[in-house]
Amino acid sequence: MENRLDRGFTLWFTGLSGAGKTTVAEIVEKELRDRIGNVEVLDGDIVRTNLSKGLGFSREDRDTNILRIGFVANLLTRNGVAVIVSAISPYKEARDQVRRDIGDDFIEVFVDCPVEVCAERDVKGLYKKAYAGEIKEFTGVSDPYESPAAPELTLRTNEEDAGESAKRVIAKLEELGYLDPVEEFSRA
Ligand code: ADX
Repeated sequence: MENRLDRGFTLWFTGLSGAGKTTVAEIVEKELRDRIGNVEVLDGDIVRTNLSKGLGFSREDRDTNILRIGFVANLLTRNGVAVIVSAISPYKEARDQVRRDIGDDFIEVFVDCPVEVCAERDVKGLYKKAYAGEIKEFTGVSDPYESPAAPELTLRTNEEDAGESAKRVIAKLEELGYLDPVEEFSRA
């Protein structure tokens, strides 16, 4: 595989709320900081408090959110940064647009977890409200999620723990040439 050790990349975690995107992303972030230093994280929940403040959850607003995140991720990637995005990003078209913009350095990670399991975990208490009809347009309950057709990696977070998932992400980055494989995975 081509040597991409000095290149930036965007690791794009997509999946339902509660699937484990942020949890896995945080472990990967620590590992990347130790190994290459130049890391930035764009998390949907946080981006929605600033860059995407005021946006809701209609298709149009979600697409706007994703294209904004993609725009920033692209700028950073072009400057050699390791970018980690974690956002539901439910619509294939918007994800594919970002893939086209970023090109080869876009790595899509499908955080795959059945909605029943996410709802069972219900870390933020949102599924309960969504099933009760108190939150409209909730992804996986009353709003669509379009699974990636050909992600670079799929993580089944109901079958392995977050540390194992993170290891597989790091292994993928090594396989693609973005990380030096001789170093040992120090965490998880
Ligand atoms: S995205 O669809 O635009 O990619 P994003 O990842 O930024 O979504 O934000 C999702 C987060 O917003 C969820 O983790 C959850 O905490 C919160 N949220 C609030 N309302 C909704 C909703 N209707 N659907 C999904 N997530 C929601």
